[in-house]
Amino acid sequence: MPSTSYPRYSTYESAGRTPSLLSQELPRPRVDTGDIYYPPNTLLEPHFSSIDESRRFGAACFCGFLEDTVEVEHCLVIPAIASVRRLPYDIPERAEQDLYRLATDEGFHAEQSQRFLTDLRSQFGLGRPPDRTGPLFLRRLASQRSQEPDASQREIVTVLNGVVTETRISIELGKFAGDSRLAESVRTICRTHADDESIHASQFKALGRWLWEEFDEGARAAAAKAFTASAIARNLPDVERLSRYFAQATGRTPAESESLVHSLYTEDVQIEELQVSARPTWSFLSDLGVDQYVSFAAALTAERARLHEEMAAR
Ligand SMILES: [Fe+2]
Ligand SMILES: [Fe+2]
Repeated sequence: MPSTSYPRYSTYESAGRTPSLLSQELPRPRVDTGDIYYPPNTLLEPHFSSIDESRRFGAACFCGFLEDTVEVEHCLVIPAIASVRRLPYDIPERAEQDLYRLATDEGFHAEQSQRFLTDLRSQFGLGRPPDRTGPLFLRRLASQRSQEPDASQREIVTVLNGVVTETRISIELGKFAGDSRLAESVRTICRTHADDESIHASQFKALGRWLWEEFDEGARAAAAKAFTASAIARNLPDVERLSRYFAQATGRTPAESESLVHSLYTEDVQIEELQVSARPTWSFLSDLGVDQYVSFAAALTAERARLHEEMAAR
């Protein structure tokens, strides 16, 4: 069991479960059905001329979600676990060992997601993304991390990014799993992943909480800044990508699609979506006391202003 000074957390043993990778389930989408792969987009729905366009858009969105999953597992969560041993804090051995098992899970989640998205792409004739630079939020997180001059602070930021993403993923996956409008295969892949992620969330929250207690005032102030910036970057909708999916689904030109999607996704809409998906993270962070160092409201106001400028510059 974890030492008393380390927060309690769940393991597969304590939850009486086994990791989903042991069952090696690789759900596949069914071909030639009217299945829906993503919850309807209320803003864009009136702009589709047929159910097929809407389904195709949904399939593109779910492929995007799975691409993000692959990237997050390989480039965000596994690196966060790898950085744990380089932190200038002595994490209790048992807790560190338990985190290592999660890296094994993440490799399987990436494989499972890649399998599903490859099938779905070919079923709907959706191409691979034109640029291979990875999702916008990962690029933004990488840039935040690279601005940190101190090497050990960069390792801390990597771990905090892992904590942020693991506080939200289980809830996000659980919403897909519970949505009866969606294809059974979508619900299955999300349910098995969500089950694993509830264990991960518990362990990453324990790690975040323990580190927060270990930090001195200066480290807390820096961590609060990194936590907040990371939560904003991770949860902001990727509007460029939505435009691309819209063009793919409807056959409209990229310019037409971009102008429609941008007119609907104003900075207020983007901030509202961010707040909904960041809710589990905010609640964990305010529970820690992060908002005593950084004002979430002020950070959102600054982000809204940044988006406004970005959109005005188009
Ligand atoms: Fe995962
Ligand atoms: Fe995870």
